[in-house]
Amino acid sequence: MKLWGGRFAGGPAEALARLSVSVHFDWRLAPYDLLASKAHARVLANAGLLDPEELGEMLAALDDLAIAVETGQFRPTVEDEDVHTALERGLLERLGTLGGKLRAGRSRNDQVATDLRLYLRDHARRLAGQIGELAEALTEQAARHVDTPAPGMTHLQHAQPVVFGHQLLAHVQPLLRDLDRLRDWDARTAVSPLGSGALAGSSLPLDPVAVAKELGFDSAAPNSMDAVADRDFVAEFLFVTALLGVHLSRLGEEVVLWTSQEFGWVVLDDAFTTGSSIMPQKKNADIAELARGKAGRLIGGLVTVLTMLKGLPLAYDRDMQEDKEPVFDALDTLELVLPALAGMISTMTVRVDVLAASAPIGFSLATEVADWLVRKGVPFREAHEITGQLVALCAVRECELHEVSDDELATVSEHLDPSVRQVLSVRSALSARITPGSTGPGPVADQLAAVTESLIGW
Ligand code: ARG
Repeated sequence: MKLWGGRFAGGPAEALARLSVSVHFDWRLAPYDLLASKAHARVLANAGLLDPEELGEMLAALDDLAIAVETGQFRPTVEDEDVHTALERGLLERLGTLGGKLRAGRSRNDQVATDLRLYLRDHARRLAGQIGELAEALTEQAARHVDTPAPGMTHLQHAQPVVFGHQLLAHVQPLLRDLDRLRDWDARTAVSPLGSGALAGSSLPLDPVAVAKELGFDSAAPNSMDAVADRDFVAEFLFVTALLGVHLSRLGEEVVLWTSQEFGWVVLDDAFTTGSSIMPQKKNADIAELARGKAGRLIGGLVTVLTMLKGLPLAYDRDMQEDKEPVFDALDTLELVLPALAGMISTMTVRVDVLAASAPIGFSLATEVADWLVRKGVPFREAHEITGQLVALCAVRECELHEVSDDELATVSEHLDPSVRQVLSVRSALSARITPGSTGPGPVADQLAAVTESLIGW
């Protein structure tokens, strides 16, 4: 059964049918298509195109079909081109010819755009919940480590000491922005295409505003051509998921480093690691690696849709059927990755002693010396130079900054005296950092409170 057979002499060629079919992936839109159908049925009744009795029968049949879809009693067949075709078959099976009235004033073009918006808005809420759970897992670990010194790095080289909680929160902040982006996206996506028909609206007295309201949208589309041609909401959603994927990938890469023999900062729980089929000692951070690897398909999805949309003439084109698999895949991927990462983070053990011992290594307190000189009135340019010479001396002597003798300090610079050693501890470097957003215990506690507060809202 086709929705468009009238003018055709025969059925479609096998090769066309195989290319054209989308029901194997768009079937997941079925519950949303049925919701939109109920809203449309009410509008048809208000327009006098269904009498009250017909409306009652129509709504009952749609409810019955929804249950059959949910329980798996009603399934699409290979003959059904897409979700809309399959559901019309289900309706006709229940209502006979009355079922054929529902299609008035409606096209698959406004239907599919509506269904996908409904589906994505619903799933974006679930996705936000899962992002929130990962952010919570990171925040809880961070709360345990507001006083844990760690080596802060740039270029993967020891740079300046930080507290490990600060670094964990540095992975929470991007997730909070991702949540914000989803919220912004939702506000722009809350526009209903239903009533736009194929592209030109309808000659029937429909009520797109009432339909929009019933389906939980904020408004009805202001332009019927744009409504069926617009897939910005898909591309934008895929940008949000691609960027989220990049954030998860960076977190994954850090965990891979942290769990390596060379770093040894973190030990993962057995339940969240895997072994090797040949090397009995292995314990690999596969979750972290998969989080890193899956970013590729998330970015790919965005590129797929942008490339598909580029150059499409208005209004609807069949190319746009290619919009669905990337978003479904993005959601499926994240639904697997996010809970695994959350579990891995919340069960990992941070090796506080290793981090603390590593924090001052690599002359990471050199900036403290330069800042100390600045406080004494030495221009930073000169302070940098002096400290650089001190570091060079230590490198030759194979000693730490605080181990340089009083005499040697004086030979490096007249500005250096033994009191500089006051700033040469990780403790003092950390507690000197009191400005908002910095890594001192005070600002990190403030940040933690603010993050915890904003996560409650989700
Ligand atoms: N399966 C189609 C899609 O996903 C539904 C709309 C088809 N419309 C059409 N005029 N052929 O885009």
